[in-house]
Amino acid sequence: MRANINENDSHCNSQPRTAVYICVCNAVTDREIRQAAALGVTSLQQLKDALGVATCCGRCEGCVHQILQEESDSTGATLVA
Ligand code: FES
Repeated sequence: MRANINENDSHCNSQPRTAVYICVCNAVTDREIRQAAALGVTSLQQLKDALGVATCCGRCEGCVHQILQEESDSTGATLVA
């Protein structure tokens, strides 16, 4: 399935049915971030290492962190700074 391309901060508060590019520089979608969180990723640094998010321009970092927070809230996981 091809993901939609949106502005970095226009879709942080929703869980769309289709995947949405969160990190445009590295073509990482919200689904990939949520899947990584489901597999145990609990920090932005781990996401950077695993997916490459926020490693270029960095404009996605806030949205990435928000999605990670949403996932940790839903699973009860504790985020690592
Ligand atoms: S949009 Fe993620 S590093 Fe540029």
